[in-house]
Amino acid sequence: MTAERLMDLAKEAMTHAYAPYSGYTVGAALLCADGTVYQGCNIENASYSPTNCAERTAFFKAVYDGHRDFTAMAVCGGKGGVITGYFPPCGVCRQVMREFCGDDFILYFVGPQGQYEQHTLAEIFPSSFSAGEHMGE
Ligand code: THU
Repeated sequence: MTAERLMDLAKEAMTHAYAPYSGYTVGAALLCADGTVYQGCNIENASYSPTNCAERTAFFKAVYDGHRDFTAMAVCGGKGGVITGYFPPCGVCRQVMREFCGDDFILYFVGPQGQYEQHTLAEIFPSSFSAGEHMGE
């Protein structure tokens, strides 16, 4: 699985978004250690707070199916179905990534003109809370 292919799958996932309130459609593609890819989109709600981000949709689908080891995720988003700039994961999604991923988990932020940024989870979520490290396990 190339970075380019994973980013293409994130773009495709963006078209599945349900975002009638913000108008921001977001897509994510999560690469499992065994090569399986799970796509996710944001799913909004009239009550706003139940909204689920694209990244968490992908993670929850994968975890439901029994996956626990993850390698990388590509994320893109923008207004009106168009990628308008990098769309970095929110704090809640970063915490969900932390639950299942190590410091070396790779994130691709997809830009509007095909360019992208590559980061690790350690870079975008330093000094984070995780059960094993902070609960005496
Ligand atoms: N959103 C995501 O899907 N992922 C993020 O990490 C940030 C925000 C969605 C939630 C909401 O539907 C829209 O983007 C605007 O906040």
